[in-house]
Amino acid sequence: MKIGMLGFGTVGQATVSTLLKNAEEIGRRFGGTVELVAVATRTPAKATGQVPAHCRVSNQIADVVNDPQIDVVVELMGGIDDAYKAVMTALENGKHVVTANKALLATHGNEIFNKARQRGCIVAFEGAVCVAIPVIKIMRESMSANRIESVMGIVNGTSNFILTKMREDGLAYDLAVKQAQELGFAEADPSFDVNGNDAAHKIAILTSLAFDVPVNLAAVQMDGIAKIHIEDIKYVETMGYRIKLLASARQSESGLFVSVQPTLVPLDHMLASVNGEMNGVHIKGDISGPTFHYGAGAGGTATSSAIVADLLDIGRMLHCDARHFVPLTGFAAPRNSAPVYIAPGASVAPRYLRFTVNDTVGVLATISSELARAGISVDIIHQDVPKHGHTNVLVITHDVALEALNQALHSLQKADSIEYEIVSLPVMSN
Ligand code: HSE
Repeated sequence: MKIGMLGFGTVGQATVSTLLKNAEEIGRRFGGTVELVAVATRTPAKATGQVPAHCRVSNQIADVVNDPQIDVVVELMGGIDDAYKAVMTALENGKHVVTANKALLATHGNEIFNKARQRGCIVAFEGAVCVAIPVIKIMRESMSANRIESVMGIVNGTSNFILTKMREDGLAYDLAVKQAQELGFAEADPSFDVNGNDAAHKIAILTSLAFDVPVNLAAVQMDGIAKIHIEDIKYVETMGYRIKLLASARQSESGLFVSVQPTLVPLDHMLASVNGEMNGVHIKGDISGPTFHYGAGAGGTATSSAIVADLLDIGRMLHCDARHFVPLTGFAAPRNSAPVYIAPGASVAPRYLRFTVNDTVGVLATISSELARAGISVDIIHQDVPKHGHTNVLVITHDVALEALNQALHSLQKADSIEYEIVSLPVMSN
């Protein structure tokens, strides 16, 4: 099988290195050879010398996607627009595609998979979501007898590392980000990870596979971790919870709710033990019950494991009729009715609230009476020890619709005794 690669950054280099390092195992398992015959990169000088001697290196994407001898194009260039053009041209030319580009699939997945179907090509993308966790395979293959009830995951290693450092080492948010940058987890501009965009791309792809619906990035309700205070991290631990940036998709009778938001996860839930830069995904099927999957979610070498596995899958499939192996569920056969998404305000979950208050007579009554007036039931209420006339009042509600809660919080925010912005975070439901 002849492959061409687009991009030669960290993941591209790791992929070449994996192909060389484990060539014997790869060849034996596939029953053929995986031969890298062309690379297109903006920096050809960097690739020359690292690729096999016969492999052509150029700075022209067309040299790869239009090369008639290439069977599979491995897209590792990143970005959206150029990658989209390259992948569509490769598919038009009848080439199979392996990509780890979650932004591309979350944005243009529907067009790309339609084109793949039309052309009888495979698009494999295990490396795009939680790289070392084979979650795409699990969703497509292992869970295919199920109706999926929920997918919940810690799918962004950078933000998980930051939240872990804040909790374990007591670092303020900015210092934890700096440490993530120094260790190479966070980019110089960390916004894509900490604002939830990266996780939103991943949950948009997983939702499509889990619920047989088109990819719909716009349907993901997104919030990041930049406003998380260390005091909330500490408070919720004493209440039996841990704050995680949770990506979640859940089907209920009212519709699909897909979100990325900092969420209180019960300490005895496996997701609470996913720390540092690691990822974890919890999938609940109606037949399988809950399943949990854990592993590295970032890094060139771990990503290359998924990319090479995709290449081997394609190699094996090419010995059969490729058309029958085009995505087995999800993209291949969307359900007949259009999905109904739950509007953000209608989403229902218990919420954690923190009110920073003047320690004055009646402040607890102000909070509880406003919540009662709005029909919001309180599960836990706790006042911290006052210091210098100020304190925090912590509340965990029972299930509440977000819009009703926000109206009550809007009124409470105007009370003289309530200082600063009220903190409001969802609590994970099982
Ligand atoms: N930046 C991502 C993360 C890895 O921190 O998990 C690539 O998606």
